[in-house]
Amino acid sequence: MTLATDLAGIRLPTPVLAASGTFGRGTEYAGLTDVEGLGGIISKAVTLRPCAGNPPPRLWETPCGLLNSVGLQNRGVEAFLREDLPELLSWGVPVIVNLAGFSREDYLETARVLRRAEGLSGIELNISCPNVKRGGLQFGAEPRVAAGLVAAVREVIDLPLLVKLSPNVPALGEMAAAVAEAGADGLSLVNTFPAMAVDIRTWRPRLGAVTGGLSGPALRPLAVRAVWEAYKAVDLPILACGGVSSWEDAVEMLLVGARAVAVGTALFREPRTPLMIAQGLKEYLLSKGLANVGQLVGKVLA
Ligand SMILES: Cc1cc2nc3c(=O)[nH]c(=O)nc-3n(C[C@H](O)[C@H](O)[C@H](O)COP(=O)(O)O)c2cc1C
Repeated sequence: MTLATDLAGIRLPTPVLAASGTFGRGTEYAGLTDVEGLGGIISKAVTLRPCAGNPPPRLWETPCGLLNSVGLQNRGVEAFLREDLPELLSWGVPVIVNLAGFSREDYLETARVLRRAEGLSGIELNISCPNVKRGGLQFGAEPRVAAGLVAAVREVIDLPLLVKLSPNVPALGEMAAAVAEAGADGLSLVNTFPAMAVDIRTWRPRLGAVTGGLSGPALRPLAVRAVWEAYKAVDLPILACGGVSSWEDAVEMLLVGARAVAVGTALFREPRTPLMIAQGLKEYLLSKGLANVGQLVGKVLA
C-alpha cells in the first residue's frame, strides 16, 4: 500500500497538499507542523510585480466558513524566486506555483520568468480569484476566454499545468473541456465562492473590499459537485480543494473523481491537518485492502 500518487505528471509523496494562499510563505508553518510530510505545497498567488492586495479588514469568520478578500497580495515573482522558493524546495516536497495576473501579458510575462526557475514541480494557473477587479475571474468566467489564456501559457511553459477554476461557473463541464482542449494537464477545483457579509450595527460590509470569497466547510458540497461535474466531462486529473478538513472529506473528494486534495482554511485551525488526513487515508486504504488512492478515484456509485 502506498500513498504516493501522480497528479498531471507531478509525483506526490501523499495526495494531501497545502492550498494556495493558506500556507503563508511556508516558513510560518515550519515550526508548527512537519512540512516534510506534506504531499506538496502550492504557493500564494505570484504576480509579475509586487501587489499590495485589498484594504483591511480582509477576513471575516462565518459560522461554517471564512470570508477573505486578501486579493493577490505578494512581493512579485522575482522576490518569490529569490526569497521564498529556496526554503520551500529545501523541504523536499513538490512545490507548485499559483500563477496570477491582471492582464494576459502579465500572466505570460510571469510564466516566462517562472520558466527559468529550477526545482518547480508545476504551475497552478489562477483564473478564479474573486477578489480582484481586473484579472482573476475575468479570465475564468467564460470557456473561450479561459481557453485562450491557457493555450498562451501552455506555449510559454513546459511544466505540468493545473488550471484552478471557480465553483461559480454556470457550465463547469464546458469550462473543463475548454481548458483541457487548450492544453491543461490537470484541473484544480475549487477556488472560493464570491460572498459578502454586513455589520448590522454600522451598516458597513465586514470586508474592506466589500465582497470576498467563502472557503471552509460551507464550500465543501459545492466543491464535491464541481469535482464530479468536471470528472464526468474530461479525462484530466483533478486536485480537489474546498472545505477538506478530515480524511473522510478527502475520501469523498476521491470518490467523485479527485486524484489528490488540497487543504486550505482547515490549516488555520490545525496546521497538522494534511498529515492527519494522510494518516487517516492510509488506515482507510489498509482497512479496505486497497493498494493506492487511485483505486478510489471516481468510484462513487452515481
Ligand atoms: C486567506 C486565503 C487566501 C487565499 N489565497 C489564494 C491565492 O492566492 N490563490 C488561489 O488560487 N487561491 C487562494 N485561496 C483559495 C484557496 O486556495 C482554496 O481554493 C479555497 O480556500 C478553498 O479551500 P478551503 O475551503 O480548504 O480553504 C485563498 C484562500 C484563503 C482562505
